Amino acid sequence: SVRSMPRETPAPNRIQNRNEPAAAWQREPFLNTPDSDASIAANREWANGIRTRMVDSQLGKQTVAAGTIDTAEQLRDVIARSVDAGPAWRALGADARAEILHRAGDMLEARRAELLEVMGSEAGKLIDQGDPEVSEAIDFAHYYAEQGRALAAIDGAEFTPAKCIAVTPPWNFPVAIPAGSTLASLASGAPVIIKPASRSCRSGAVMVEALWEAGVPRDVLQFVQFSDRSLGTELIAHPDVERVILTGGYETAEQFREARPDLPILAETSGKNAIIVTPSADFDLAARDVAHSAFGHAGQKCSAASLVILVGSVAKSKRFRNQLLDAVRSMRVGYPWQEGAQVGPIIAPPEGKLARALTTLGEGEQWMIRPEQLDDSGKLWRPGVRSGVAPGSEYHLTEYFGPILGVMLAPTLEEAVEYVNAIDYGLTSGLHSFDEAEIAYWLDAVEAGNLYVNRGITGAIVQRQPFGGWKKAAVGAGAKAGGPNYLMGFGDWQDAPLAA
Ligand code: SER
Repeated sequence: SVRSMPRETPAPNRIQNRNEPAAAWQREPFLNTPDSDASIAANREWANGIRTRMVDSQLGKQTVAAGTIDTAEQLRDVIARSVDAGPAWRALGADARAEILHRAGDMLEARRAELLEVMGSEAGKLIDQGDPEVSEAIDFAHYYAEQGRALAAIDGAEFTPAKCIAVTPPWNFPVAIPAGSTLASLASGAPVIIKPASRSCRSGAVMVEALWEAGVPRDVLQFVQFSDRSLGTELIAHPDVERVILTGGYETAEQFREARPDLPILAETSGKNAIIVTPSADFDLAARDVAHSAFGHAGQKCSAASLVILVGSVAKSKRFRNQLLDAVRSMRVGYPWQEGAQVGPIIAPPEGKLARALTTLGEGEQWMIRPEQLDDSGKLWRPGVRSGVAPGSEYHLTEYFGPILGVMLAPTLEEAVEYVNAIDYGLTSGLHSFDEAEIAYWLDAVEAGNLYVNRGITGAIVQRQPFGGWKKAAVGAGAKAGGPNYLMGFGDWQDAPLAA
């Protein structure tokens, strides 16, 4: 049975695990790493210490010199070193690699505070958002360590890991996403070249240091950065790079495809996600989950809720409306170094479609809460909610990646699902309903990779909620990240196993 920790008992991840090997219970069977428990006074003090160390002046602009590359020749050297390092890493065997990966999980745990500090400074990530992100990265280490062993144990088929894998993560999950892609590649036996997003490269650098510290050789895991986009094309186009793991915009995946049509891409791309609320829902729960899913990390998650679709009589329910608007209005907006902030800054002053979504309405739309710019930086915004979003309108179909939510009305659940399926992307999707028939219908009919019933739609948990997109939210086939079989896409098979 599960019991909560008594107050004043330090959270296990604060005390026991620091610089120590992962507890046996974390290894087999796999169990998720606990987040820091903020109900414990010592953990709140610890978090305050991190806040005082965050740098408030350089959001999105911090730089790190390590791994900087200026020329195609330097990049070719990096690739050559990677390819040379591959055979020894592969020959080490899955058990020895698993040991190193488990240790990587421990090292990430040991650097939890440092990771939170850097994520706050450079990516505007609040501690309560960053803390589960670090836990997720640790989970990836322990989970893929064992998946690597499972891969090696598949009988009757030979797996050859890729010669070299390029990892190109986004800025918004600057630790968990690069860690997941990197650890999976390493577990499969392939060497990695990681090119973090320039806006959050320090977070990526700290993550990589933790892996080196755990024993991943520096040529097996190389960290590069460059500002010249042609080097990105060069990396993708190099024949020794046999896989690329991309998390980012759909357009980037298209560019990669153009640069190298035959390169297998494992990509999780854009999202425009909706939560449907039916009359059978628990409105308090639904309102809370919609607000969190829409405005956690200021809506800058590919998994975020951008739409809530109210079915039938929910449209007229004062209760749902008031619960939602009260929840959103009472969210405190602030920087990560300000205690109590619940909605953080956006990464840069809004431009283009996000600027439009924060300032203008489409035909027939009204503000329920008008977005409001709160300081001169242009990055701090009170989140906005618009109603009257029409099927087929710009707001309905566009990904914004910011603190904005739209309300749509649908006469029936069937029509609500049609509105969801009309969107090009299919990443996450939510249903709030306590009607079994509605749930069964929705699970069958809705087109999205990650389906959540009576839960928020962000924050997938490793192993329990493998994560991957559908339609334009994914490019390239493959199993979901954080789930079984994911590693099978990281190399080539002879006599492919039937049970893939
Ligand atoms: N895995 C993240 C989530 O579930 C998104 O990348 O929110």
